[in-house]
Amino acid sequence: MLLAETILDLRAVCDRARADGGRIGLVPTMGYLHEGHRSLIRAARRTCDVVVVTVFVNPLQFGAGEDLDSYPRDLSRDLALCEAEGVDAVFAPSVAEMYPSGPPLTTVHVAGLTDDLCGASRPTHFDGVTTVVAKLFSITGPCAAFFGRKDAQQLAVISRMVEDLNLPVEVIGCPIVRDADGLARSSRNAYLTPDQHRSALVLSRALTAAATAVIAGERDAAALLDLVLGLIAAEPAVALEYAEIRDAHELAPVAVVDGDVLLAVAAQVGRTRLIDNVSFSVHDGEVTADLGVRVEAKSHDNGDAGVRSKGVH
Ligand code: PAJ
Repeated sequence: MLLAETILDLRAVCDRARADGGRIGLVPTMGYLHEGHRSLIRAARRTCDVVVVTVFVNPLQFGAGEDLDSYPRDLSRDLALCEAEGVDAVFAPSVAEMYPSGPPLTTVHVAGLTDDLCGASRPTHFDGVTTVVAKLFSITGPCAAFFGRKDAQQLAVISRMVEDLNLPVEVIGCPIVRDADGLARSSRNAYLTPDQHRSALVLSRALTAAATAVIAGERDAAALLDLVLGLIAAEPAVALEYAEIRDAHELAPVAVVDGDVLLAVAAQVGRTRLIDNVSFSVHDGEVTADLGVRVEAKSHDNGDAGVRSKGVH
């Protein structure tokens, strides 16, 4: 496995792979890798000849007062996980390598889709994400790029950027990976105390209750939101930022669950901001609710290697 710290080094590998007719799969991350990231790597490994993982805590997507400085980092453990998963190259550039002249003058802004949900409390966040992802696409030249559905708004925004700019890359959304107790995996879960972790479980419980209601026939968005709000309100340690039911692609509010729809939540638990969602697909009377997959870790270590899949919920 190659560790590339410069754009030149990564480009050399990718140019060679393309010249050999290889399909390059890109997995962009901010590191401190966990089971969610591992599932993206495995999806890339299954379908691509060359897998590139990027590890870069992108300052551009953090707002003032956010956790850029304290964001968890452990490159040597990330490299070990990538090596174990058969990754071909890890790109771990410095901030100076990615932004040699300071913040870039050229940025990518996806209008509309970034205005609310997480964009409401993080107004500069998505421009930072789309700008760095566009740069990573341009540096790597992947055929496919893998993103988690946990960050559903991010996935919708990146998909729209690729469509609008005709970027020659297939964006692939992968299922949410959860702890065995239901909490969606996140590098930021490392901030949670055991008590906060227990409190945070109300988010996946509320989404599961909504999924059960939809499967049982409930289609009214207001009724589903009442259910979710009621459950979350009963957990005082969890300060809900939003609970919204939206079209999964356009992110427009919907009154009725029909087609591809997302129930997304964001909440603050102590100083930690968590997001989660369940996606529904209602087509020709058939309904599915996708909460992702649960995995069981042998330890509470964020990226423990001994993890097995428990199946789809
Ligand atoms: P990061 O939070 O490290 O996440 C990297 C990728 O892993 C994203 O596509 C995210 O959706 C996915 N992911 C995180 N937790 C997951 C989970 N529990 N299940 C499934 N997938 C999960 O998202 C970012 O970094 C950055 O914004 C990035 C796209 C790298 C741009 O800097």
